[in-house]
Amino acid sequence: MDELIDAAREIQADAHVPYSEYRVGAALETEDGEVFVGCNLENANFSNSLHAEEVAIAEAVKNGHREFSRLAVSSDRRDGVTPCGMCRQTLSEFCDGDLVVLCDEGDGEVTEYTLEELLPNTISQETLE
Ligand code: THU
Ligand code: ZN
Repeated sequence: MDELIDAAREIQADAHVPYSEYRVGAALETEDGEVFVGCNLENANFSNSLHAEEVAIAEAVKNGHREFSRLAVSSDRRDGVTPCGMCRQTLSEFCDGDLVVLCDEGDGEVTEYTLEELLPNTISQETLE
């Protein structure tokens, strides 16, 4: 099993999910091989809930990283969860279309996508120039 998937699995233990009881972990690997992790943090008003991918990317960016190679995402259901539409857009702000997105299917199975496959033709800084 890829160690990036392992990191995404481990951080699920820190998720705060009293409402959905659906734990998600994300692990983002920088170009130079560092790994930043995040888990979902829910809120009683629901809409303030943070997604695992958002927390991981915030952690990486605030530590000075801007170049990323891979993201792993895992839920405690081992259901091959993929980043939601909002997280795909958030990732696209800092990651190129060739970012590899690994989704944990359980039983050692991982589905691999690129960010470009998950979010083609996205709005970006260039769009606004
Ligand atoms: N969730 C994530 O953390 N990442 C995603 O991209 C999919 C959804 C969380 C949000 C909420 O806490 C729970 O999963 C159920 O939607
Ligand atoms: Zn999301």
